[in-house]
Amino acid sequence: MKLRDATLADVPRISALLRALTALGKRTRPDDEAFVRSHYVENPVNVACTVAEDDTGRVLGFQVLSVAAAGNPWGVTPGWGIIGTHIGPDAARKGVGRALFGVSRAAAQRAGLAHIDASIGATNDEGLGYYDAMGFETYRTPEGRICKRFDVPPA
Ligand SMILES: CC(C)(COP(=O)(O)OP(=O)(O)OC[C@H]1O[C@@H](n2cnc3c(N)ncnc32)[C@H](O)[C@@H]1OP(=O)(O)O)[C@@H](O)C(=O)NCCC(=O)NCCS
Repeated sequence: MKLRDATLADVPRISALLRALTALGKRTRPDDEAFVRSHYVENPVNVACTVAEDDTGRVLGFQVLSVAAAGNPWGVTPGWGIIGTHIGPDAARKGVGRALFGVSRAAAQRAGLAHIDASIGATNDEGLGYYDAMGFETYRTPEGRICKRFDVPPA
């Protein structure tokens, strides 16, 4: 597996991966290419958008770390990191998410982020299990969501 920064050339494959998650009921947010470009690959508040691919160039998953802006719709404290993780259904539970978080965690340290928020659907057991395993802890529970916080250690 190779980990690298996402580029515009990844947008169609990332969109296809998200559509596969949508089809399985694992995603409710948009999954089209325009959304992937504006919210993930070219989001101006990004700290990192990292892709994992196999040795044939197939996208296995990706992780986005951005900085919460003032008035963000998720109620995250401005200046904290916000993280999202999306692994293709056929690549799950093989260590891709764990590897991606190693990259994002280091990027958070370099960017000087103190905390990272992960907002997970309250019934998304795999998402909750994943962020627990990465060291996130629940700190607030808005309707239908469980928000976990990771305290970024000094580099
Ligand atoms: C949740 C998700 C990000 C996990 O990524 P992954 O690459 O499968 O995770 P990894 O294989 O790196 O697993 C790391 C650890 O997370 C935990 N974990 C992963 N999948 C899990 C599951 N289905 N149930 C419980 N714990 C799980 C485990 O502790 C695991 O360690 P282990 O395999 O040594 O026991 C991935 O399944 C996914 O993208 N799901 C759909 C979208 C989603 O729910 N995103 C996150 C919330 S927004």
